[in-house]
Amino acid sequence: MAGRSTGALVLLAVALPLALSACSPASPQATATPAAAATGSPSSAPTSAAQAPTSAAQAPISAMRAPAAATDPASPLVVVNKRTPLTPIDYAPPLTVPAVPLAVDGEGAQLSPTTARAAEAMFAAAARDGAPMVLLSGYRSYATQAATYDGWVARQGQEAADVASARPGYSEHQTGFAFDIADPGGACSLMPCFKDTPAAVWVAAHGHEHGFIVRYPWWHHETTGYYYEPWHLRYIGAEAAADMHARGIPTLEEYLGLPAAPTY
Ligand code: DAL
Ligand code: ZN
Repeated sequence: MAGRSTGALVLLAVALPLALSACSPASPQATATPAAAATGSPSSAPTSAAQAPTSAAQAPISAMRAPAAATDPASPLVVVNKRTPLTPIDYAPPLTVPAVPLAVDGEGAQLSPTTARAAEAMFAAAARDGAPMVLLSGYRSYATQAATYDGWVARQGQEAADVASARPGYSEHQTGFAFDIADPGGACSLMPCFKDTPAAVWVAAHGHEHGFIVRYPWWHHETTGYYYEPWHLRYIGAEAAADMHARGIPTLEEYLGLPAAPTY
């Protein structure tokens, strides 16, 4: 246990600055300094693991569907993490371009149709509340993720790449259910300080109302496999997202009663 914790801390010190731009397929350079990373305040952290129900008695109804849904790439409850690649590994979803403010074009401007409709409602609601946001990076094909990951490995080595970028077939961006948001002015884009922007504060409080979760919450990397990404949103459906929020369950793995996925 001690060895694992020490290893995690070493990895954090080495790789956290790199992880901050993890969701940017075209920008492998680190976009935050270690000092900036340190500003990711635990005060913004989700509820502690102690508050997350793990027993079957506390499991949500949706967890009863987990064994099938978690492996169905077309299900909003599909789990894609370092333990669980997509099946088939080169899965490609149906896609559409959402009617939201775009900071990307081409492949990355697309989402699954269900996700696109939910995103349209969420972006509009956020803008009405004074928290406008833009879509920074949506769908990534297997080939795009492979090129992205290979670029990270070439520049930083595999250990650093694995905490910053998913291997091809292991990225939620390949499902069409995940995307990264940004402030319209680009404030703190893909950096820890993004958590304090109106967009990030709004999605943390209201994303679940539209079926979204912040997929990689603060200090749950031992479960999710990734450090804090307040910009990476994942569509899981309004019922499940509201249920997770109400129960204070921080990660999809815990919600569905699935094992942690800290490493490949
Ligand atoms: N940055 C996330 C984990 C991805 O590459 O899919
Ligand atoms: Zn992302």
